Amino acid sequence: MRSSATVYAVANQKGGVAKTTTVLSVAAALAERGQAVLVVDLDPQADLTFSLGYDPDSIDPTVHDVLVGRAPLQKTILQHDEMDIAPANIDLAGAEVVLLTRTGREYALRYELEPLADSYDAILIDCPPSLGVLTLNALTAADRVLIPVQCETLSHRGVSQLLETIVDIQRLTNRELEIAGFVATMFDGRTRHSRAVLADVQSRYDLRLVGVPVRKSVRFAEAPHDGRSILAAGSQPRGADAYRVIAAELAGIEVEPAWRQHAGEALR
Ligand SMILES: Nc1ncnc2c1ncn2[C@@H]1O[C@H](COP(=O)(O)OP(=O)(O)OP(=O)(O)O)[C@@H](O)[C@H]1O
Ligand SMILES: [Mg+2]
Repeated sequence: MRSSATVYAVANQKGGVAKTTTVLSVAAALAERGQAVLVVDLDPQADLTFSLGYDPDSIDPTVHDVLVGRAPLQKTILQHDEMDIAPANIDLAGAEVVLLTRTGREYALRYELEPLADSYDAILIDCPPSLGVLTLNALTAADRVLIPVQCETLSHRGVSQLLETIVDIQRLTNRELEIAGFVATMFDGRTRHSRAVLADVQSRYDLRLVGVPVRKSVRFAEAPHDGRSILAAGSQPRGADAYRVIAAELAGIEVEPAWRQHAGEALR
């Protein structure tokens, strides 16, 4: 029998650090392992929805309808080959405003996810690049938060503000929330600089690196146009194996040494 799903919020208020890419790739890697996976698009930009091949503007109902109390989450779910998705579109920008007027506004998503927890092994929530009410909903609904950090100078500014928000959430709305660690994204093994950022984030914020760094690869930019994850695409860049290692580590599964080696060559 399946036990209750582990819910992950993938969050960083900085834009373009690979939150959506991480949600998609980790979800695909867990699904490859036979896990039942749901991804929730909690960003009005709807990049996750688009990346799985859907036209956000023609979807109804969406997560927006869920958060404003018009539809149960179950009714929004679409079944993609690789995973299930609760989709979003630009309407979600309006949900922020509606939620701000509500009591218990941080709990709206948590309440909707609870009845689905027994149907999945893992649920991953893609957060928008802000610390607004949508991200607070994700952190309140999650068991674990995963923080993508881009391996570039100054890109980790803002991590301390995110960590302060997480402490507030642990105090106020979700005592059980734990930090799974950070995912090092767009790593360039040729530069000292990428390594320096990696070491800095680990020491300065006392954050654990999950798996191995994900190398920079143009394939990631191409994948969304296929409507599937980079793991399901024909060619297999090292970044795909890095996400396999990350997902296995999150799920507590032993990682095949060959994968770790393939993915981890980035570090040499
Ligand atoms: N390892 C990588 N190598 C090269 N490009 C990458 C990598 N990971 C992600 N990208 C690209 O970087 C861009 C930003 O990634 P993504 O959309 O996942 O970030 P995000 O944090 O979700 O952005 P936003 O804050 O806007 O939601 C995308 O074009 C994506 O394809
Ligand atoms: Mg995104």
